[in-house]
Amino acid sequence: MRGIKILLRMGRAGLLLAVASSGLSFVNLALHAQSSDLRTPEPPATPHLNGPKIYGARPGHPFLYRIPCTGVRPISFAAVHLPASLKLDSHTGVISGAVPIAAGRYAITLTAANARGRSARSFTIVVGQQIGLTPQMGWNDWYSYYGHVTDQDIRDAATAMISSGMADYGYQYVDIDDTWARKPGSDDPSDGGATRDANGNFRTSARFPDMSALTAYIHSLGLKAGIYTSPGPLTCAKFEGSYQHESVDAHQFAAWGFDLLKYDWCSYGKVTNGKSLEDLQMPYRKMGQILAGLDRDIIFNLCQYGMGEVWKWGREVGGNSWRTTGDLGMERNTSLPGFYRIGLANSVLSDYAGSGGWNDPDYILIGQVGDPRSPDSPPHATALTHEEQYSYMSMWSLMAAPLIFSGEMTRLDTFTLNVLCNSEVIDIDQDSLGKQAKVVKKNDDELILEKPLEDGSVAVGLFNLANEPRVLSADWLGLGLKGRQMVRDVWRQQNIGSFEKSYTSTVSAHGAVLIRLIRRRG
Ligand code: GLA
Repeated sequence: MRGIKILLRMGRAGLLLAVASSGLSFVNLALHAQSSDLRTPEPPATPHLNGPKIYGARPGHPFLYRIPCTGVRPISFAAVHLPASLKLDSHTGVISGAVPIAAGRYAITLTAANARGRSARSFTIVVGQQIGLTPQMGWNDWYSYYGHVTDQDIRDAATAMISSGMADYGYQYVDIDDTWARKPGSDDPSDGGATRDANGNFRTSARFPDMSALTAYIHSLGLKAGIYTSPGPLTCAKFEGSYQHESVDAHQFAAWGFDLLKYDWCSYGKVTNGKSLEDLQMPYRKMGQILAGLDRDIIFNLCQYGMGEVWKWGREVGGNSWRTTGDLGMERNTSLPGFYRIGLANSVLSDYAGSGGWNDPDYILIGQVGDPRSPDSPPHATALTHEEQYSYMSMWSLMAAPLIFSGEMTRLDTFTLNVLCNSEVIDIDQDSLGKQAKVVKKNDDELILEKPLEDGSVAVGLFNLANEPRVLSADWLGLGLKGRQMVRDVWRQQNIGSFEKSYTSTVSAHGAVLIRLIRRRG
């Protein structure tokens, strides 16, 4: 006899009842209440200030920062003790001007008020040589557009970073990846022909007619712009790279108004004599020194897939972050999705991350994303389950990873935004203490990560690596904690209760529970 399958879906669109087959012997009632899958609660109507509490900037350089804040607009912003060289637009919340000349810590209090209430948050600008004090947050075009990205795609992404609300949570870099330059030997008029002008400067592809105008648009929204090249003669997609033009290119990027450079090894292996540590470091050290001498702050993102244990020297050559592995998008699912394999490799490198220099396990590939194996096919919905997506974001935040989304910005759905935009999860990533979580336990079925936070609390992730639900525990002894702890469910932004010795939860297949433990007095 055939069974009756009834599927109930409680989505935003209402109730869908589907009877999949008929028969009387058995009934399989599957409830998929999609709205209850949404872990992040709606932000309050009152203003809630987000974003890092510390921010590094070099003396005298241009400064631009859009204060991330949720709540019903209009919001009126103010900043107490803002240095005189900076000004705040009280309507947009954008701070601009020049970084003070005198090195030191400038402690500012940001406030935001609307008709419903007000909130305040500390924000310290640390003026000195170190930038990138918290991991960069933003978007990179690669997994959405590959070799056909255009100026308009980047503008649309920037616009969407504001309109989707992502910028209100701290996302701010809008990064152009490979293929904006000219391609040697190409007979396509849009990217063929001379790769450089008479002064040796890059010629851009016809898809990017005016880089200065593009960064000006991104900056007009209070956001920042990122660009990509390779130390080799060719980028990974075989476009013009910076080999033997490093200084001219860095100055060009600064003149165009870029705020971040991703420097991708690609063809450099063909021009270096060997692969000694010095060979691996040389191109990054060279570019790091050039960037440090510019009159503009440019975050330096090393991309060389972890060669020569880059986490041990990435900071020393001027890097603010360094990819620790190969491309996440090229990972194939075994029983565990690719982000788990990359994340697990990155998780053991916690000793090497810290304020100003971060391990980078690559982008957040959720929402509508393209397959790098067929880059001409349109992006499609991620195959990751909802549980896996929350695990992904939990893991990246615990690991203090750069939070760079690379799915389509113009087709963001409610669920994807729910994963990307949880203020308490992001606070863990951006925490001023700058620690990457340590692995407390790892076996075939479970991973436990623990990240100490500036306020003395700790964030803990219980990850179920198994293919079925499992009961996982965080016990205070194993975490090095003493006494009763208040346990907060970070995703749901709710206190669960106070526990004497441990916390136990059933975690779904490949899922994660992310908690914050706050020491109780007495
Ligand atoms: C490499 C990088 C990717 C992307 C492509 C572009 O594979 O790791 O992130 O930048 O190059 O060609």
